[in-house]
Amino acid sequence: MKYPISKIAQQIPPSGIRQFFDLVIGMKDIISLGVGEPDFVTPWNIRESAIFSLEEGYTSYTSNKGLLELRKEVAHHLLRKHGLEYDPEEEILITVGVSEAKDLVMRAILNKNDKVLIAEPSYVSYRPLTELAGGKAVYLHTPKDTGFKLLPKQIEKACDKKTRAILLNYPSNPTGTSYTKKELTGIAKVAEKKNLLVISDEIYGDLTYDFEHTPFPTLPGMKKRTVYLNGFSKAYAMTGWRVGYACGPREIISLRADGCHRGA
Ligand SMILES: Cc1ncc(COP(=O)(O)O)c(C=O)c1O
Repeated sequence: MKYPISKIAQQIPPSGIRQFFDLVIGMKDIISLGVGEPDFVTPWNIRESAIFSLEEGYTSYTSNKGLLELRKEVAHHLLRKHGLEYDPEEEILITVGVSEAKDLVMRAILNKNDKVLIAEPSYVSYRPLTELAGGKAVYLHTPKDTGFKLLPKQIEKACDKKTRAILLNYPSNPTGTSYTKKELTGIAKVAEKKNLLVISDEIYGDLTYDFEHTPFPTLPGMKKRTVYLNGFSKAYAMTGWRVGYACGPREIISLRADGCHRGA
């Protein structure tokens, strides 16, 4: 049988890093430096709570936006840690990892051929997710001599009438580079000038050791134009649990999220 396959899906190359991961998975005496993952299992207090929740019967459909208790905890955490205020009812969405969060954001914001600026090198799924949503990924080269950083003037130059968003990821996978508050302020000014939505994948934010990590929505005026993505995979050694979240303007986060249950 000749199966119908989408043209876009056909054009997306397989992930090299995943092929490598599958190759070494289960091999003894090999340290895999491929996927970004802590080298220890989820701490026992987290595993124990999950077991207890299952025993208590937390096994049913949740709201489309995720369990309200969890959204409230995410809101508390962001307020405590970064002074960021998000309404758990309307501005926080629980997702299947940051991976689903990115997919949903792209689908929510892009129309055909809308452009998204992405640093190159970048995390492997950014381009496919942009293209599957009908958009175009515009790569901005970040060479070693700029410390693999995007520069404000480079971003400004790349913008045209079809540019809708910039996807930031800091600390970056794969380069490890991150941005100081001053550097981020430069990017924020361009985002304002060019009316860009900023999708900020900060999944490695808690693994910043050399200076304080600045979440993009904490910069003046940026909360309203940022979709902040984070999750539990890296900071809590929970990669297999598949839990992440997206926080941002209710117009994007709550878009069609009310109504039926996810999966129903
Ligand atoms: C930059 C970046 N974003 C997102 C992810 C995926 O995160 P999650 O496990 O929450 O889907 C990864 C995983 O390696 C990553 O490196």
